[in-house]
Amino acid sequence: MVNIETLCSAVCCLAKETGQYIKEERKTITIDIETKSLNSFVTHVDKEAERKIIERLSLLLPEAGYIAEEGTNDKKGELYNWIIDPLDGTTNFIHSIPCFSVSIGLMRNNKMILGVVYEINFDECFYAMEGSAAFLNGREISVSKTENLKDSLLATGFPYYDYEKLEPYLELLGHFTKNTRGIRRLGSAATDLAYVACGRFDGFYEYGLSPWDVAAGAFIVQQAGGCVSDFKNSENYIFGKEILATNLLTHKHLLKEIQHFF
Ligand code: IPD
Ligand code: CA
Ligand code: CA
Repeated sequence: MVNIETLCSAVCCLAKETGQYIKEERKTITIDIETKSLNSFVTHVDKEAERKIIERLSLLLPEAGYIAEEGTNDKKGELYNWIIDPLDGTTNFIHSIPCFSVSIGLMRNNKMILGVVYEINFDECFYAMEGSAAFLNGREISVSKTENLKDSLLATGFPYYDYEKLEPYLELLGHFTKNTRGIRRLGSAATDLAYVACGRFDGFYEYGLSPWDVAAGAFIVQQAGGCVSDFKNSENYIFGKEILATNLLTHKHLLKEIQHFF
């Protein structure tokens, strides 16, 4: 039987060590950028970070499988599966914009039981595990208490490869621009979610995301008292490519607006 607390602190250490590696590489490398698909980039740092993470996780929980962005070691685990984004915010990393994270989540029987998001530049480790609250560097965190849309600060990610829903997306953005306190685009979905969890943002929405972008962060939001759904208000937000994460109090309002435009 896995001791979830021990596992969680080991994963936090691993995320921080990986973050240190990424930070050091950022100082010294001339970046070798590969284009995976439209506006989707990868460097040797993403790949090496993922290799290091999987090497260590395979010692911590040998029976687990992996869903990892760079596909270093895709394998399906019967009971446990890690969902890993070794570097969320690669475009920021490439352009030296200080917002990028390591994101590691664990599922048991397709249910999240652990999430760690480590934002490297500010040395902020957000984490949560089954049956516990959510934490930032050892301090308990919770979502904001904002009730109204007009007092809400939102985060989103602009579409950059799937333009099918660009029109409704932009209309919705216009609506939120006029009816909220403001909108931010950090460039790292894992960090956006961690910021909802600790109350910096009141809500985050994006479409076109992958499981490794959201799995850990969404779990941390829930353990911090927030609410996460897809745009239909169902639970398919890890694999369903669209997500709304809120402080719970604003969920209905935001969902209503999203559904009006999408
Ligand atoms: C990206 C970031 C970004 C989001 C993209 C993701 P990557 O992840 O999370 O904020 O808008 O959809 O793909 O490629 O930097 O790991
Ligand atoms: Ca990502
Ligand atoms: Ca990535």
